[in-house]
Amino acid sequence: DLKSYHVFVVMGASGDLAKKKIYPTLWWLYRDNLLPKKTFFLGYARSKLDIKDFLTQKCRQYMKVKPDEEEKFNEWVSKNHYLAGSYDQSESFAQLNSKIVEISRFYEPETDDANRIFYLALPPSVYTSVTQLLSENCKAKKPHFTRVIVEKPFGKDSKSSSELSTHLSKLFTEEQIYRIDHYLGKEMVQNLIVLRFANQIFKRIWNRDSIENVSITFKEPFGTQGRGGYFDEFGIIRDVMQNHLLQILSLVAMESPISKNAEEIRNEKVKVLRSIPEIKLEDVVLGQYVGNPNGQGDEKMGYLDDPTVPAGSNTPTFCCAILKIKNERWDGVPFILKSGKALNERKAEIRIQFKEVSGDIFDNSCARNELVIRVQPDEAVYMKISTKKPGINFNPLETELDLTYKHRYDGEYMPDAYERLILDVFLGSQLNFVRTDELAEAWRIFTPLLHKLEKENIKPIPYVYGSRGLPEADELCAKVGKYTYNKNYKWKDSSKS
Ligand code: BG6
Repeated sequence: DLKSYHVFVVMGASGDLAKKKIYPTLWWLYRDNLLPKKTFFLGYARSKLDIKDFLTQKCRQYMKVKPDEEEKFNEWVSKNHYLAGSYDQSESFAQLNSKIVEISRFYEPETDDANRIFYLALPPSVYTSVTQLLSENCKAKKPHFTRVIVEKPFGKDSKSSSELSTHLSKLFTEEQIYRIDHYLGKEMVQNLIVLRFANQIFKRIWNRDSIENVSITFKEPFGTQGRGGYFDEFGIIRDVMQNHLLQILSLVAMESPISKNAEEIRNEKVKVLRSIPEIKLEDVVLGQYVGNPNGQGDEKMGYLDDPTVPAGSNTPTFCCAILKIKNERWDGVPFILKSGKALNERKAEIRIQFKEVSGDIFDNSCARNELVIRVQPDEAVYMKISTKKPGINFNPLETELDLTYKHRYDGEYMPDAYERLILDVFLGSQLNFVRTDELAEAWRIFTPLLHKLEKENIKPIPYVYGSRGLPEADELCAKVGKYTYNKNYKWKDSSKS
């Protein structure tokens, strides 16, 4: 129903997430004419503010407005409204409701209502009351739709997450709830379904017969950057592993869905998660970064030097975990999840390492094949293969078949993850959002470990800001992961040439 009015409400409009991500995304969608024509934007937060000043003075630096877009930008700004109100009082939400109707009527007096999307860019402490009051006061009149976008954290463990899910499910139907995991909006994460199910060559080898191990890695070259207060309550496992990396894992490992319908795909994701036993302490290596005395600026700062982090905190900023999938396809294949802050580089990638060449006639000089899907930076898919070393000889040489996006799709516009996901909400596509049962499974896998770490105050291993990772993690992978690392091979990043 894209002909109706749409009102997109940013709850927590004055906050950081709104300023840096949500408003810029709304502008890009508007700029590219991707939104339904009659869409308006309404900010809501406790403080009084002038939305036009806010957008043009505070947000604009994140919006990449080009000189020839000035006119369009002003047009977009003029479609923005604002209302100040509380997060826990019914009257405020009644006003919010009237404001939405008023916005739609202003442009077309006959309109009785608009489709409504609420983006909850809010701290978890006000989630319960806001969703309750939205549901009581602000649902659209049928046939208009009401959709609610929620941001993590979706609880801290199985129990708190299930309480939140139960609360939401009393107020909204599953079709109305859009839980964002922005990794599901990334080009290469979305590509997984196409790569896997649109290529016969991969379909046949995507199992324990051909694959030795799978690693999914997330690295960041910076620390908590003043977000220590938030981070310390969650830690790297909750911050990126239980959500982003596990989502990637489920797309890599799931069975083939019946169709590309969102529910069919989400059913398969849940199914594979259900085959994963909870993680044990012996299957993880945990780390916490310390400052590098020889580093520059922030690099000198360890996690515990962040004034917003409580003294002596044992919160991990690095984790390597081995997950097992107990099903016919994957039995015995380790899935290595690695994530860390304050490491040597920014990288997110999926690496599928194949088994050794059987009946090798080249005196064991063949390296294992690897399929690498680089999520960021510089999207790429490359396959490491052995080829004859060029020239007068007959030796295998490890090289790659390289699909680097910058070269192959030069100039192609790659929308930001949030752009794709917010557009999906307008279109009513839930494929790239986390369903309630999926979330519950994800917490089931990690909760016992998280509780044990907290109860027993388990100390993470210190690592220096800027390190490649922890040697202990490499040892764990060598022990259970069966991963082999070829020091001689160097990926020639052709996006840089
Ligand atoms: C967020 C985490 O969900 O993802 C951050 O809270 C992390 O700690 C971020 O930095 C990474 O996202 P991206 O898109 O920059 O890889």
